[in-house]
Amino acid sequence: MFRLAPSILASDFSKLGEEVVSLEKAGAHLVHIDVMDGHFVPNITYGACVMKSLLGKTALPLDVHLMIEHPDRFISDFVTESTEYITVHYEACTHLHRTIQHIKSNGVKAGVAINPATPPAVLESILADVDLVLVMSVNPGFGGQKFITSSIDKIKYIDGKRKTCNLNFEIEVDGGVQVSHTRELVTSGVDIIVAGESVFRGGEIEANVKAFLNSVS
Ligand code: DX5
Ligand code: ZN
Repeated sequence: MFRLAPSILASDFSKLGEEVVSLEKAGAHLVHIDVMDGHFVPNITYGACVMKSLLGKTALPLDVHLMIEHPDRFISDFVTESTEYITVHYEACTHLHRTIQHIKSNGVKAGVAINPATPPAVLESILADVDLVLVMSVNPGFGGQKFITSSIDKIKYIDGKRKTCNLNFEIEVDGGVQVSHTRELVTSGVDIIVAGESVFRGGEIEANVKAFLNSVS
């Protein structure tokens, strides 16, 4: 099985609280928080104050994806009782080991993400320190893009390292994921699936979440 982390980037922000309540009712497992700074990626989204506005609305754990330069400066802003993961990009961290330790020192699980053009082998020296590896299956910056199929080989590579080195981090995939992808992703080693457009499509949150959850049994 896998856990589903809908990305609120695809939600109707004018009723964000209600949409998150719908996600929880439908059985989603986490809420994925896409933070973009207009520097690391060519788009700006929202920051910690928007994330914190959800705290009274849902008991779902928060999965924070920082697509920002200099993430160390902002990590503490995203630490809350509901924050389960904070994930930073390999490409944005000069001292990745320090940043991962910084996240963990706040009592939060630490993740590292790689862009589609980054080979998974670069993570070898950090795999033993992280709680999560996030494989981007689109170039980060926007929701609703097409899934890049070569991501599946990267997931298999990372899953292979996890097995041979006897490690127990989780593997997450993010970008363009459709219900039709879930079976192959899970058999390739994915533990957490992020989905934006395919969860919020047509305003049918409950039906879309259920379609994901029923797609692998
Ligand atoms: C991409 C973000 C993703 C994305 C997910 O930059 O990190 O979380 O918005 O949305 P979909 O599933 O629509 O690609
Ligand atoms: Zn994301």
